Amino acid sequence: MTSNLDQARATLRANDRGGYTVPNGRIYPFQWNWDSAFVAMGWATFDAARAWREVETLLEGQWDDGMIPQIVFHAASDDYFPGPDVWGTTPQSPRTSGITQPPVLATAARAVFDADPAGEDRMATIYKRLLRNHRWWERARDPARRGLVATLHPWETGMDNSPAWDLPLQRVPTTTETKIVRRDTAHVDPAMRPRQEDYARFIHLVDHYRNCGWDPARMLATTPFKVADIGTNAILLRAERDLRELARRFGSPADQAEIGERVERMARAIPALWHDPLGLFVSRDLLREAPIPVGTSAGLLPPYAGVGLDHLAPLCETLARWAGTVRFLVPSTDPADPAFEKMRYWRGPVWAVVNWMIADGLGRAGQHGWADRIRADTRICMEGAGFSEYFDPVTGHGLGGADFSWTAAIGLLLAEGRHAASG
Ligand code: GLC
Repeated sequence: MTSNLDQARATLRANDRGGYTVPNGRIYPFQWNWDSAFVAMGWATFDAARAWREVETLLEGQWDDGMIPQIVFHAASDDYFPGPDVWGTTPQSPRTSGITQPPVLATAARAVFDADPAGEDRMATIYKRLLRNHRWWERARDPARRGLVATLHPWETGMDNSPAWDLPLQRVPTTTETKIVRRDTAHVDPAMRPRQEDYARFIHLVDHYRNCGWDPARMLATTPFKVADIGTNAILLRAERDLRELARRFGSPADQAEIGERVERMARAIPALWHDPLGLFVSRDLLREAPIPVGTSAGLLPPYAGVGLDHLAPLCETLARWAGTVRFLVPSTDPADPAFEKMRYWRGPVWAVVNWMIADGLGRAGQHGWADRIRADTRICMEGAGFSEYFDPVTGHGLGGADFSWTAAIGLLLAEGRHAASG
Protein backbone atom coordinates (compact mmCIF):
# COMPACT_ATOMS: atom_id res chain seq x y z
CA MET A 1 0.00 0.00 0.00
CA THR A 2 2.96 2.32 0.66
CA SER A 3 3.73 2.62 -3.03
CA ASN A 4 0.10 3.42 -3.83
CA LEU A 5 0.17 6.17 -1.25
CA ASP A 6 3.38 7.49 -2.72
CA GLN A 7 1.82 7.45 -6.16
CA ALA A 8 -1.25 9.29 -4.92
CA ARG A 9 0.89 12.00 -3.36
CA ALA A 10 3.02 12.18 -6.49
CA THR A 11 -0.13 12.62 -8.60
CA LEU A 12 -1.24 15.61 -6.51
CA ARG A 13 2.24 17.09 -6.67
CA ALA A 14 2.43 16.62 -10.44
CA ASN A 15 -0.93 18.36 -10.87
CA ASP A 16 -0.02 21.17 -8.46
CA ARG A 17 0.27 24.47 -10.30
CA GLY A 18 1.48 26.40 -7.28
CA GLY A 19 -1.39 26.74 -4.81
CA TYR A 20 -4.08 25.10 -6.86
CA THR A 21 -4.33 21.61 -8.28
CA VAL A 22 -5.59 20.92 -11.79
CA PRO A 23 -7.86 17.85 -12.16
CA ASN A 24 -5.50 16.49 -14.80
CA GLY A 25 -2.82 18.47 -16.60
CA ARG A 26 -4.10 17.97 -20.13
CA ILE A 27 -7.87 17.67 -20.33
CA TYR A 28 -8.59 20.10 -17.50
CA PRO A 29 -5.88 22.75 -17.13
CA PHE A 30 -7.61 24.99 -14.52
CA GLN A 31 -9.02 24.76 -10.99
CA TRP A 32 -12.38 23.02 -10.69
CA ASN A 33 -14.67 23.66 -7.75
CA TRP A 34 -15.67 20.28 -6.36
CA ASP A 35 -12.47 18.62 -7.56
CA SER A 36 -10.52 21.03 -5.39
CA ALA A 37 -12.69 20.33 -2.37
CA PHE A 38 -11.86 16.61 -2.53
CA VAL A 39 -8.27 17.39 -3.40
CA ALA A 40 -7.93 19.64 -0.34
CA MET A 41 -9.00 16.69 1.83
CA GLY A 42 -6.39 14.59 0.05
CA TRP A 43 -3.63 17.15 0.65
CA ALA A 44 -4.72 17.34 4.29
CA THR A 45 -3.60 13.73 4.79
CA PHE A 46 0.06 14.73 4.31
CA ASP A 47 0.49 18.49 3.84
CA ALA A 48 -1.90 20.69 5.82
CA ALA A 49 -0.46 23.99 4.60
CA ARG A 50 -1.00 22.94 1.02
CA ALA A 51 -4.55 21.81 1.83
CA TRP A 52 -5.44 25.28 3.17
CA ARG A 53 -3.98 26.86 0.02
CA GLU A 54 -6.21 24.70 -2.15
CA VAL A 55 -9.30 26.03 -0.41
CA GLU A 56 -8.02 29.61 -0.49
CA THR A 57 -7.11 29.62 -4.18
CA LEU A 58 -10.56 28.28 -5.05
CA LEU A 59 -12.09 31.08 -2.99
CA GLU A 60 -10.03 33.64 -4.94
CA GLY A 61 -12.57 33.00 -7.67
CA GLN A 62 -15.60 33.65 -5.43
CA TRP A 63 -17.94 36.30 -6.81
CA ASP A 64 -19.05 39.35 -4.85
CA ASP A 65 -22.52 37.84 -4.53
CA GLY A 66 -21.07 34.73 -2.87
CA MET A 67 -21.15 32.30 -5.79
CA ILE A 68 -18.17 29.97 -6.03
CA PRO A 69 -17.60 29.23 -9.71
CA GLN A 70 -17.25 25.83 -11.32
CA ILE A 71 -13.90 26.79 -12.89
CA VAL A 72 -11.25 29.31 -11.86
CA PHE A 73 -9.02 30.16 -14.82
CA HIS A 74 -5.86 31.05 -12.93
CA ALA A 75 -3.67 30.85 -16.03
CA ALA A 76 -4.45 30.95 -19.74
CA SER A 77 -4.57 27.71 -21.73
CA ASP A 78 -5.72 26.81 -25.22
CA ASP A 79 -6.35 23.26 -24.17
CA TYR A 80 -9.92 23.76 -22.93
CA PHE A 81 -13.24 24.85 -24.41
CA PRO A 82 -15.20 26.91 -23.35
CA GLY A 83 -12.54 29.29 -22.06
CA PRO A 84 -13.06 32.61 -20.21
CA ASP A 85 -14.03 34.63 -23.28
CA VAL A 86 -16.95 32.34 -24.07
CA TRP A 87 -18.25 32.71 -20.52
CA GLY A 88 -17.99 36.50 -20.75
CA THR A 89 -18.30 36.92 -17.00
CA THR A 90 -17.51 40.22 -15.31
CA PRO A 91 -13.80 40.77 -15.70
CA GLN A 92 -12.20 39.99 -12.40
CA SER A 93 -8.96 38.40 -11.47
CA PRO A 94 -8.75 35.44 -11.64
CA ARG A 95 -11.31 34.95 -14.40
CA THR A 96 -13.95 32.29 -13.87
CA SER A 97 -16.82 30.46 -15.50
CA GLY A 98 -20.32 31.73 -14.68
CA ILE A 99 -21.94 28.67 -13.12
CA THR A 100 -21.19 26.69 -9.98
CA GLN A 101 -20.68 23.04 -8.98
CA PRO A 102 -21.71 20.77 -6.08
CA PRO A 103 -20.81 22.57 -2.83
CA VAL A 104 -18.49 20.08 -1.16
CA LEU A 105 -16.25 22.90 0.06
CA ALA A 106 -17.59 23.43 3.60
CA THR A 107 -17.31 19.70 4.23
CA ALA A 108 -13.75 19.76 2.91
CA ALA A 109 -12.76 22.83 4.92
CA ARG A 110 -14.05 21.20 8.07
CA ALA A 111 -11.98 18.09 7.30
CA VAL A 112 -8.88 20.20 6.70
CA PHE A 113 -9.45 21.99 10.00
CA ASP A 114 -9.88 18.66 11.79
CA ALA A 115 -6.55 17.55 10.35
CA ASP A 116 -4.88 20.83 11.29
CA PRO A 117 -6.54 22.56 14.27
CA ALA A 118 -3.61 25.01 14.36
CA GLY A 119 -5.02 26.56 11.16
CA GLU A 120 -7.79 28.33 13.04
CA ASP A 121 -7.02 31.81 11.71
CA ARG A 122 -7.26 30.57 8.17
CA MET A 123 -10.42 28.65 9.01
CA ALA A 124 -12.00 31.77 10.51
CA THR A 125 -11.54 33.66 7.23
CA ILE A 126 -12.70 30.73 5.13
CA TYR A 127 -15.76 30.28 7.34
CA LYS A 128 -17.05 33.76 6.47
CA ARG A 129 -16.67 33.06 2.78
CA LEU A 130 -18.46 29.74 3.06
CA LEU A 131 -21.34 31.37 4.90
CA ARG A 132 -21.67 33.93 2.09
CA ASN A 133 -21.65 31.07 -0.38
CA HIS A 134 -24.40 29.13 1.36
CA ARG A 135 -26.48 32.31 1.55
CA TRP A 136 -25.98 32.67 -2.19
CA TRP A 137 -27.32 29.18 -2.77
CA GLU A 138 -30.53 30.05 -1.01
CA ARG A 139 -30.95 33.56 -2.41
CA ALA A 140 -30.00 32.72 -6.00
CA ARG A 141 -31.30 29.17 -6.29
CA ASP A 142 -34.09 28.75 -3.76
CA PRO A 143 -35.59 32.20 -3.28
CA ALA A 144 -38.98 30.64 -2.45
CA ARG A 145 -37.31 28.67 0.35
CA ARG A 146 -38.80 25.34 -0.53
CA GLY A 147 -35.68 23.58 0.73
CA LEU A 148 -34.40 22.47 -2.69
CA VAL A 149 -31.87 24.47 -4.68
CA ALA A 150 -32.09 24.69 -8.46
CA THR A 151 -29.33 23.73 -10.85
CA LEU A 152 -29.28 25.58 -14.16
CA HIS A 153 -26.76 23.63 -16.22
CA PRO A 154 -25.85 19.93 -16.34
CA TRP A 155 -22.25 21.02 -15.68
CA GLU A 156 -23.37 22.47 -12.36
CA THR A 157 -24.31 19.00 -11.18
CA GLY A 158 -20.76 17.79 -11.83
CA MET A 159 -22.41 14.77 -13.48
CA ASP A 160 -22.41 16.53 -16.80
CA ASN A 161 -23.72 13.87 -19.11
CA SER A 162 -26.02 11.93 -16.79
CA PRO A 163 -29.10 10.42 -18.48
CA ALA A 164 -31.12 12.19 -15.77
CA TRP A 165 -30.63 15.37 -17.81
CA ASP A 166 -31.69 13.88 -21.17
CA LEU A 167 -35.35 14.79 -20.85
CA PRO A 168 -34.95 18.28 -19.33
CA LEU A 169 -32.27 19.01 -21.94
CA GLN A 170 -34.71 18.29 -24.76
CA ARG A 171 -36.20 21.69 -24.03
CA VAL A 172 -32.87 23.39 -24.69
CA PRO A 173 -32.27 24.38 -28.32
CA THR A 174 -29.18 23.09 -30.14
CA THR A 175 -28.47 26.48 -31.67
CA THR A 176 -25.47 28.40 -30.37
CA GLU A 177 -24.08 31.88 -30.80
CA THR A 178 -20.67 30.62 -29.85
CA LYS A 179 -18.72 28.57 -32.34
CA ILE A 180 -18.03 25.21 -30.73
CA VAL A 181 -14.40 24.15 -30.78
CA ARG A 182 -14.24 21.01 -28.70
CA ARG A 183 -10.92 20.17 -27.13
CA ASP A 184 -11.97 17.22 -24.98
CA THR A 185 -12.36 14.78 -27.87
CA ALA A 186 -8.79 15.47 -28.97
CA HIS A 187 -7.55 14.03 -25.67
CA VAL A 188 -10.06 11.29 -24.94
CA ASP A 189 -11.85 8.68 -27.07
CA PRO A 190 -15.10 10.36 -28.29
CA ALA A 191 -17.01 7.19 -27.31
CA MET A 192 -16.42 8.14 -23.69
CA ARG A 193 -17.43 11.80 -24.07
CA PRO A 194 -20.74 13.66 -24.57
CA ARG A 195 -22.30 13.63 -28.02
CA GLN A 196 -22.16 16.70 -30.26
CA GLU A 197 -25.88 17.47 -29.97
CA ASP A 198 -25.73 17.52 -26.17
CA TYR A 199 -22.65 19.65 -26.33
CA ALA A 200 -24.52 22.25 -28.43
CA ARG A 201 -27.22 22.39 -25.75
CA PHE A 202 -24.60 22.90 -23.04
CA ILE A 203 -23.21 25.86 -24.97
CA HIS A 204 -26.69 27.22 -25.73
CA LEU A 205 -27.21 27.53 -21.99
CA VAL A 206 -23.89 29.33 -21.56
CA ASP A 207 -24.91 31.77 -24.33
CA HIS A 208 -28.29 32.29 -22.68
CA TYR A 209 -26.88 33.08 -19.24
CA ARG A 210 -24.20 35.34 -20.67
CA ASN A 211 -27.04 37.25 -22.35
CA CYS A 212 -28.70 37.49 -18.91
CA GLY A 213 -25.54 39.26 -17.72
CA TRP A 214 -25.10 36.41 -15.23
CA ASP A 215 -27.84 37.97 -13.13
CA PRO A 216 -29.12 35.14 -10.87
CA ALA A 217 -32.75 36.30 -10.83
CA ARG A 218 -32.93 36.64 -14.61
CA MET A 219 -31.22 33.30 -15.08
CA LEU A 220 -33.65 31.57 -12.73
CA ALA A 221 -36.70 33.21 -14.33
CA THR A 222 -35.82 32.62 -18.00
CA THR A 223 -33.81 29.41 -18.10
CA PRO A 224 -34.96 26.50 -20.25
CA PHE A 225 -33.16 24.08 -17.87
CA LYS A 226 -34.01 24.03 -14.17
CA VAL A 227 -33.71 20.91 -12.03
CA ALA A 228 -33.46 20.11 -8.34
CA ASP A 229 -30.48 17.77 -8.60
CA ILE A 230 -30.60 15.12 -5.90
CA GLY A 231 -26.79 15.08 -5.79
CA THR A 232 -26.32 18.82 -5.36
CA ASN A 233 -29.08 19.04 -2.77
CA ALA A 234 -27.72 16.16 -0.68
CA ILE A 235 -24.20 17.59 -0.89
CA LEU A 236 -25.42 21.06 0.09
CA LEU A 237 -27.38 19.75 3.06
CA ARG A 238 -24.33 17.86 4.25
CA ALA A 239 -22.21 21.00 3.73
CA GLU A 240 -24.73 23.07 5.71
CA ARG A 241 -24.40 20.64 8.61
CA ASP A 242 -20.61 20.93 8.45
CA LEU A 243 -20.87 24.70 8.25
CA ARG A 244 -23.11 24.69 11.29
CA GLU A 245 -20.41 22.80 13.20
CA LEU A 246 -17.86 25.40 12.11
CA ALA A 247 -20.27 28.17 13.12
CA ARG A 248 -20.21 26.96 16.73
CA ARG A 249 -16.57 27.91 16.81
CA PHE A 250 -16.25 30.69 14.23
CA GLY A 251 -19.73 32.15 13.85
CA SER A 252 -22.36 33.93 15.92
CA PRO A 253 -25.47 32.40 17.52
CA ALA A 254 -27.43 34.17 14.77
CA ASP A 255 -25.34 32.39 12.12
CA GLN A 256 -26.03 29.07 13.78
CA ALA A 257 -29.76 29.75 13.86
CA GLU A 258 -29.77 30.83 10.22
CA ILE A 259 -27.88 27.73 9.07
CA GLY A 260 -30.11 25.60 11.28
CA GLU A 261 -33.20 26.90 9.49
CA ARG A 262 -31.77 25.97 6.12
CA VAL A 263 -30.84 22.53 7.44
CA GLU A 264 -34.40 21.99 8.66
CA ARG A 265 -35.92 23.08 5.37
CA MET A 266 -33.66 20.88 3.27
CA ALA A 267 -34.02 17.93 5.61
CA ARG A 268 -37.78 18.13 5.12
CA ALA A 269 -37.67 18.57 1.34
CA ILE A 270 -35.07 16.01 0.24
CA PRO A 271 -36.81 12.84 1.51
CA ALA A 272 -39.80 13.75 -0.70
CA LEU A 273 -37.59 12.98 -3.70
CA TRP A 274 -37.85 9.26 -2.92
CA HIS A 275 -38.96 7.28 -5.99
CA ASP A 276 -40.46 3.98 -5.04
CA PRO A 277 -40.47 2.19 -8.42
CA LEU A 278 -36.73 2.76 -8.88
CA GLY A 279 -35.87 2.23 -5.21
CA LEU A 280 -33.82 5.37 -4.80
CA PHE A 281 -34.03 9.16 -4.70
CA VAL A 282 -34.35 11.06 -7.96
CA SER A 283 -33.91 14.60 -9.20
CA ARG A 284 -36.88 16.80 -9.98
CA ASP A 285 -37.59 18.79 -13.11
CA LEU A 286 -38.54 22.20 -11.73
CA LEU A 287 -39.97 23.49 -15.01
CA ARG A 288 -42.44 20.61 -15.35
CA GLU A 289 -42.70 20.10 -11.57
CA ALA A 290 -42.22 16.38 -12.06
CA PRO A 291 -39.78 13.77 -10.82
CA ILE A 292 -37.11 12.66 -13.30
CA PRO A 293 -37.47 8.87 -13.24
CA VAL A 294 -33.87 7.91 -13.92
CA GLY A 295 -31.80 5.95 -11.39
CA THR A 296 -28.32 7.38 -10.90
CA SER A 297 -25.63 7.05 -8.26
CA ALA A 298 -26.56 10.54 -7.01
CA GLY A 299 -29.85 9.01 -5.85
CA LEU A 300 -27.91 7.11 -3.18
CA LEU A 301 -26.50 10.27 -1.59
CA PRO A 302 -29.20 11.38 0.89
CA PRO A 303 -27.74 9.31 3.77
CA TYR A 304 -24.50 11.28 3.25
CA ALA A 305 -26.62 14.28 4.23
CA GLY A 306 -28.14 12.38 7.16
CA VAL A 307 -31.60 12.11 5.57
CA GLY A 308 -33.72 9.51 3.82
CA LEU A 309 -32.90 6.94 6.47
CA ASP A 310 -36.48 5.63 6.43
CA HIS A 311 -35.68 4.29 2.98
CA LEU A 312 -32.36 2.70 3.87
CA ALA A 313 -33.51 -0.90 3.38
CA PRO A 314 -34.86 -0.43 -0.17
CA LEU A 315 -31.84 1.74 -1.00
CA CYS A 316 -29.56 -1.18 -0.09
CA GLU A 317 -31.74 -3.55 -2.10
CA THR A 318 -31.15 -1.30 -5.07
CA LEU A 319 -27.40 -1.55 -4.52
CA ALA A 320 -27.71 -5.32 -4.30
CA ARG A 321 -29.60 -5.35 -7.60
CA TRP A 322 -26.92 -3.26 -9.27
CA ALA A 323 -24.19 -5.45 -7.78
CA GLY A 324 -25.89 -8.42 -9.43
CA THR A 325 -25.30 -6.86 -12.85
CA VAL A 326 -21.93 -5.11 -12.62
CA ARG A 327 -18.82 -6.22 -10.73
CA PHE A 328 -17.80 -2.81 -9.39
CA LEU A 329 -20.00 -0.48 -7.40
CA VAL A 330 -21.27 2.17 -7.82
CA PRO A 331 -22.21 2.57 -11.49
CA SER A 332 -23.24 6.14 -12.21
CA THR A 333 -26.47 4.93 -13.88
CA ASP A 334 -28.79 2.08 -12.97
CA PRO A 335 -27.52 -0.81 -15.13
CA ALA A 336 -31.14 -1.73 -15.89
CA ASP A 337 -31.82 1.68 -17.41
CA PRO A 338 -31.84 1.62 -21.24
CA ALA A 339 -29.57 4.68 -21.13
CA PHE A 340 -26.85 2.76 -19.23
CA GLU A 341 -23.52 2.75 -21.12
CA LYS A 342 -20.68 1.29 -19.13
CA MET A 343 -17.98 3.45 -20.70
CA ARG A 344 -19.63 6.77 -21.44
CA TYR A 345 -19.18 9.74 -19.23
CA TRP A 346 -21.64 9.70 -16.29
CA ARG A 347 -23.88 7.15 -18.03
CA GLY A 348 -22.47 4.07 -16.33
CA PRO A 349 -18.85 4.34 -15.15
CA VAL A 350 -17.77 4.45 -11.52
CA TRP A 351 -16.41 7.67 -10.01
CA ALA A 352 -14.24 7.43 -6.88
CA VAL A 353 -15.51 10.70 -5.38
CA VAL A 354 -19.13 9.64 -5.63
CA ASN A 355 -18.26 6.28 -4.10
CA TRP A 356 -16.52 7.99 -1.20
CA MET A 357 -19.62 10.05 -0.39
CA ILE A 358 -22.05 7.15 -0.79
CA ALA A 359 -19.90 4.92 1.42
CA ASP A 360 -19.58 7.66 4.01
CA GLY A 361 -23.36 8.04 4.14
CA LEU A 362 -24.08 4.33 4.33
CA GLY A 363 -21.41 3.86 6.98
CA ARG A 364 -22.89 6.60 9.15
CA ALA A 365 -26.29 5.03 8.71
CA GLY A 366 -24.90 1.75 10.05
CA GLN A 367 -24.74 -0.07 6.70
CA HIS A 368 -21.10 -1.05 7.19
CA GLY A 369 -21.25 -4.02 4.87
CA TRP A 370 -22.24 -1.89 1.89
CA ALA A 371 -19.90 0.92 2.87
CA ASP A 372 -16.96 -1.51 3.03
CA ARG A 373 -17.90 -3.15 -0.23
CA ILE A 374 -18.01 0.21 -2.04
CA ARG A 375 -14.69 1.29 -0.56
CA ALA A 376 -13.10 -2.05 -1.47
CA ASP A 377 -14.37 -1.83 -5.06
CA THR A 378 -12.96 1.67 -5.34
CA ARG A 379 -9.57 0.50 -4.08
CA ILE A 380 -9.48 -2.50 -6.44
CA CYS A 381 -10.21 -0.24 -9.41
CA MET A 382 -7.39 2.10 -8.43
CA GLU A 383 -4.94 -0.69 -7.72
CA GLY A 384 -5.57 -2.20 -11.13
CA ALA A 385 -5.89 0.92 -13.25
CA GLY A 386 -4.25 3.77 -11.33
CA PHE A 387 -5.95 7.07 -10.55
CA SER A 388 -8.11 7.19 -13.67
CA GLU A 389 -10.82 9.76 -14.12
CA TYR A 390 -13.45 7.00 -13.94
CA PHE A 391 -13.73 3.22 -14.19
CA ASP A 392 -15.64 0.63 -16.16
CA PRO A 393 -18.10 -0.97 -13.68
CA VAL A 394 -17.92 -4.34 -15.44
CA THR A 395 -14.16 -4.76 -15.90
CA GLY A 396 -12.71 -2.14 -13.52
CA HIS A 397 -10.62 -0.76 -16.38
CA GLY A 398 -9.57 2.88 -16.14
CA LEU A 399 -11.40 5.32 -18.44
CA GLY A 400 -11.12 8.98 -19.41
CA GLY A 401 -7.93 10.76 -18.38
CA ALA A 402 -5.12 9.19 -16.35
CA ASP A 403 -3.55 10.52 -13.13
CA PHE A 404 -6.60 12.38 -11.90
CA SER A 405 -6.21 14.50 -8.80
CA TRP A 406 -9.55 13.76 -7.19
CA THR A 407 -9.18 10.03 -7.71
CA ALA A 408 -5.74 10.19 -6.07
CA ALA A 409 -7.22 12.25 -3.22
CA ILE A 410 -9.85 9.57 -2.59
CA GLY A 411 -7.06 6.97 -2.69
CA LEU A 412 -5.39 8.87 0.15
CA LEU A 413 -8.60 9.19 2.16
CA LEU A 414 -9.44 5.51 1.77
CA ALA A 415 -5.92 4.43 2.71
CA GLU A 416 -6.06 6.51 5.86
CA GLY A 417 -9.53 5.22 6.68
CA ARG A 418 -10.62 8.85 6.81
CA HIS A 419 -14.25 9.38 6.37
CA ALA A 420 -15.70 12.81 6.79
CA ALA A 421 -16.29 13.98 10.37
CA SER A 422 -19.70 13.45 11.86
CA GLY A 423 -22.01 16.22 13.01
C1 GLC B 1 -15.88 16.88 -15.76
C2 GLC B 1 -16.76 16.29 -14.69
C3 GLC B 1 -16.85 17.25 -13.54
C4 GLC B 1 -15.45 17.57 -13.04
C5 GLC B 1 -14.54 18.04 -14.17
C6 GLC B 1 -13.09 18.15 -13.76
O1 GLC B 1 -16.40 18.05 -16.28
O2 GLC B 1 -18.03 15.98 -15.19
O3 GLC B 1 -17.62 16.73 -12.49
O4 GLC B 1 -15.48 18.52 -12.05
O5 GLC B 1 -14.60 17.13 -15.22
O6 GLC B 1 -12.61 16.93 -13.27
